[in-house]
Amino acid sequence: MKRSLLALLCALTAFGVHAADAAKASPKGDAARGQPIASSVCGACHGADGNSQLAANPKLAGQHPEYLLKQMKNFKAADGKQPERVNAIMNGMIAAFDDGQMRDIASYFGSQTQKGETAKNRETIELGQKLYRGGDQTKGLPACAACHGPAGAGIPAQYPRIGGQFAEYTEAQLKAFRDGVRANDPNKMMRMVAIKMTDAEIKAVADYIAGLR
Ligand code: HEC
Ligand code: HEC
Repeated sequence: MKRSLLALLCALTAFGVHAADAAKASPKGDAARGQPIASSVCGACHGADGNSQLAANPKLAGQHPEYLLKQMKNFKAADGKQPERVNAIMNGMIAAFDDGQMRDIASYFGSQTQKGETAKNRETIELGQKLYRGGDQTKGLPACAACHGPAGAGIPAQYPRIGGQFAEYTEAQLKAFRDGVRANDPNKMMRMVAIKMTDAEIKAVADYIAGLR
């Protein structure tokens, strides 16, 4: 009798803890509070509204806030440990901000409208489209569309928007996943995709994605 009461109490406490964790992870953040930080600090590289002008700096406008928040947390080194996503610039840039501020910034950039890039290479557009829509069954490469959506808009909260992004940035990320330099993808989802791709395929799909809406 005593034991079963204890078990019930334990179960209730565990439930309480889970509920609290979930509440901490999900609140929306305040775009109006995020805007001044986003435009002044982050805007220097990503553009005040998240539409970066330089291919090395990804566009953040219109990205899912959950994905933005996850990346910010991954860039931030937790108690002396190596950050989950390593990039000298971003590891430094994000260090000063706490979870609440990150959530506000994510909410701001997520609410902006992306000004998308265009595909530039006529010769590879067909290959890029084929890989994006259908993958390559002969080598077990899945279609990008399966997770990132037919128009590259992603599927919140797990799968980021990739359509309209700079081809150079997309190419660099795919190579980083392939080489294991970027390893913050849950269940190795992107590393298992990128490892099956040649340089030429990465270039083709990255260019196609730049023009995808
Ligand atoms: C000095 C330039 C610079 C500044 C300032 C800067 N960033 Fe970045 N940011 C970058 C670069 C470069 C990358 C790409 C990193 C990589 O290649 O992995 C990046 C990547 C990111 C990403 C990942 C995007 C994605 O699609 O995965 C997020 C999120 C981000 N930055 C948020 C911020 C925020 C928030 C701020 C302001 C607090 C900020 N950045 C300030 C240069 C900058
Ligand atoms: C099984 C699902 C899945 C498939 C298939 C997939 N992706 Fe992804 N992709 C993800 C996930 C999940 C992430 C986010 C990783 C993280 O949280 O950092 C991601 C992230 C990315 C990023 C980084 C975005 C950024 O802003 O930094 C790029 C680029 C990308 N994927 C391109 C592709 C391409 C191109 C293909 C097809 C060749 C593809 N993906 C297929 C799940 C998938």
